[in-house]
Amino acid sequence: MPKRTIHDLTDAEVRGRRALVRVDFNVPMDDRGTVTDDTRMRAAMPTLDALFARGARTLVLLSHLGRPKGGPDPKFSLAPVARHLATLTTRPVRFVSTTVGPEAVQATTNAAAGTILLMENTRFLTGEERNDDGLARQMAELGDFYVDDAFGSAHRAHASTEGVAHHLHPAVAGLLMDTELRFLGDALANPQRPFVAILGGAKISGKIDVIDALLPKVDSLLVGGAMACTFFRAMGLETGTSLVEADRVDMAKDLLARAKAKLVLPNDAMVATSLDAGRAAHPVARDAIPAGDAMFDIGPRTCETFASALASARTVVWNGPMGVFETPPFDRGTRAVAEAMARATAAGATTIVGGGDSAAAVEGMHLASRMTHVSTGGGASLEFLEGKVLPGVAALDDRSN
Ligand code: 3PG
Repeated sequence: MPKRTIHDLTDAEVRGRRALVRVDFNVPMDDRGTVTDDTRMRAAMPTLDALFARGARTLVLLSHLGRPKGGPDPKFSLAPVARHLATLTTRPVRFVSTTVGPEAVQATTNAAAGTILLMENTRFLTGEERNDDGLARQMAELGDFYVDDAFGSAHRAHASTEGVAHHLHPAVAGLLMDTELRFLGDALANPQRPFVAILGGAKISGKIDVIDALLPKVDSLLVGGAMACTFFRAMGLETGTSLVEADRVDMAKDLLARAKAKLVLPNDAMVATSLDAGRAAHPVARDAIPAGDAMFDIGPRTCETFASALASARTVVWNGPMGVFETPPFDRGTRAVAEAMARATAAGATTIVGGGDSAAAVEGMHLASRMTHVSTGGGASLEFLEGKVLPGVAALDDRSN
């Protein structure tokens, strides 16, 4: 069932009111508290602008940052994020060092019209992650209606992402949330064919559900990353010192049997004795990985095979890097896929990068603007592709028509 968005709100529901907006400002920062990648923050700005354009009086933002354990920890304060937010908008931004309670509520009611308040990290509160109902009710007092724009956290059933939506209505999707759901949803439900999925990353265990869910839908599933080595082992090939999940080899055998020609594995690999030995890296056929070497990237022939599969695709979904892209020269496979996807987009295909490491890689290669959509959700986009219901989405109001 489609969800109501801020476009579906009536004027009476928005005008002069406080919008409680769950954003995902879980962004990377350096030791000095400087935000090093503000993609997620910039992605939320259209929602904030649209709420003011619709006449909202004050925006009250909730977000988590990192995974603090055992209460408040200055290392995970959102104060530096508030400072960064102030550089992205002409509106006044205020950081509120409490998250809920009378003082916090007072800050939301006293704030001058047009102000954006960013409340302190929701994960400083013990009830957040266990979705405590009392905490969700306290959060609901911070606004007059609820907007969830935190796609990246929608797979978490926490008080600020799920619980609060039961106590504050309207509870609607923000523009980023809506865009994410539409792109990922349409790609899965009505893909233009050929529909090609490309999966990478280190471990098959984290991707097994997504492989299962995608296999019946796609025309081909390209597999790269160290995950390919578990398949190689299942095929009886020598994998040297490559990362192999020994306890998943049977699972890989089963997938190979079921997927048949749909599953396309690398036909060569870039190998080296260690990650530090990049200078000595060289390509070998997949059945010739030396016993003392490990695969750190897909090889050049595979780059070509994958690029030509992507060139003829009309829909592409990509999740997970092809190699250790942070450590050149093992970034070549990931780069080749990103470039092939950019060309496919230019040729009219719908290309979707499913968050996490692959999104970071595409950003780092300055190719994000050449994709149809780069998801801001890592775990969330993976769970969406697995066909799971995202609790943060399910809790929002249904659109009646
Ligand atoms: C993410 O970065 O994927 C989201 O912000 C969720 O963070 P979490 O995995 O700590 O819940």
